[in-house]
Amino acid sequence: MSAPSAEVDPILVRPRRLRVSVPMRRLVAEHRLHPADLVLPAFVREGIDAPVEISSMPGVQQHTVDSLVELARECVAAGIGGIMLFGVPEHKDARGSGADDPEGILNVATRAVVDAVGDSLVVMTDLCLDEFTDHGHCGVLAQGPDGSVVVDNDATLERYADMALAQARAGSHVLGMSGMMDGQVGFVRGVLDREGLTSVSILAYSAKYTSALYGPFREAVQSSLTGDRATYQQDPANATESVRELELDIAEGADIVMVKPAGPHLDVIAAAAAMSPVPVAAYQISGEYSQLVAAAERGWIERERSVMESVMHIRRAGAGIVLTYFALEVADVLRRDL
Ligand code: PBG
Repeated sequence: MSAPSAEVDPILVRPRRLRVSVPMRRLVAEHRLHPADLVLPAFVREGIDAPVEISSMPGVQQHTVDSLVELARECVAAGIGGIMLFGVPEHKDARGSGADDPEGILNVATRAVVDAVGDSLVVMTDLCLDEFTDHGHCGVLAQGPDGSVVVDNDATLERYADMALAQARAGSHVLGMSGMMDGQVGFVRGVLDREGLTSVSILAYSAKYTSALYGPFREAVQSSLTGDRATYQQDPANATESVRELELDIAEGADIVMVKPAGPHLDVIAAAAAMSPVPVAAYQISGEYSQLVAAAERGWIERERSVMESVMHIRRAGAGIVLTYFALEVADVLRRDL
């Protein structure tokens, strides 16, 4: 090789020096994953006596109450921060009666999980009607002025309040308000406080976008939804609107705010992290999980690296808490690499 010509400046700054070795890269890493920052979403189904595989989410099951408790114990052993419970009732109706029934599957399962591991794991419950309604919408339906069917915001708030009381009394530590009704956080906070349930936290799904990636979740909760949720979930074309939604939920008393889906909305997570005085969570949803698992099954991408990257991207964008179906898998990798 010839010597550099006199006109070329020598390279004084070489960023690659900080990438030369595993220990060096580890030393200078700006973000780290830790099991305590992860929350595992989990499904519990009424009327089954053994776990049922969810075909569009390989590796994820609908649990019995007993197998759910086992899973929660695994989370504790892995150092996971929390578990988010979703109920799949045997019978659904228009108003989602199973949701606030103390003997409804989600409330029964919550009591069992809290009894077993409530001192070592944050137990969260999905507070939304879609798992419990026969039409699959997140609220109660009514007729709009033009005769069309609409999700009735204010009537739904009353149902959410009843759900909140049932979940809080079942022992849930954190109510995951995922229904995207206007005013839901303030309404539920007020009802909880009036009943003396002041220690129960609200995790607000503040910036929740409508998405085709919820598809596998619909199978997981056996939803009969036709159409979409575009009249209440946000349009992916909008980013500024999320700031408004976040501000409202924070003002209404949300303890934690969330952005969802996570991977497609890293810009929104960053915006939330920049403005929020309360912790920011993000939810890597069912379709994000299934896409990655499917590609890895075909051998097109490496599973472990892709999983770890996908969760790191969400952390780096600014989410302090990540809900992910990969939580136990990530914790395994982290433990191995210690
Ligand atoms: C509403 C709720 C949904 C998810 C979490 N809470 C469904 C929806 O909004 O359509 C989706 C989670 C996922 O896709 O993993 N109960």
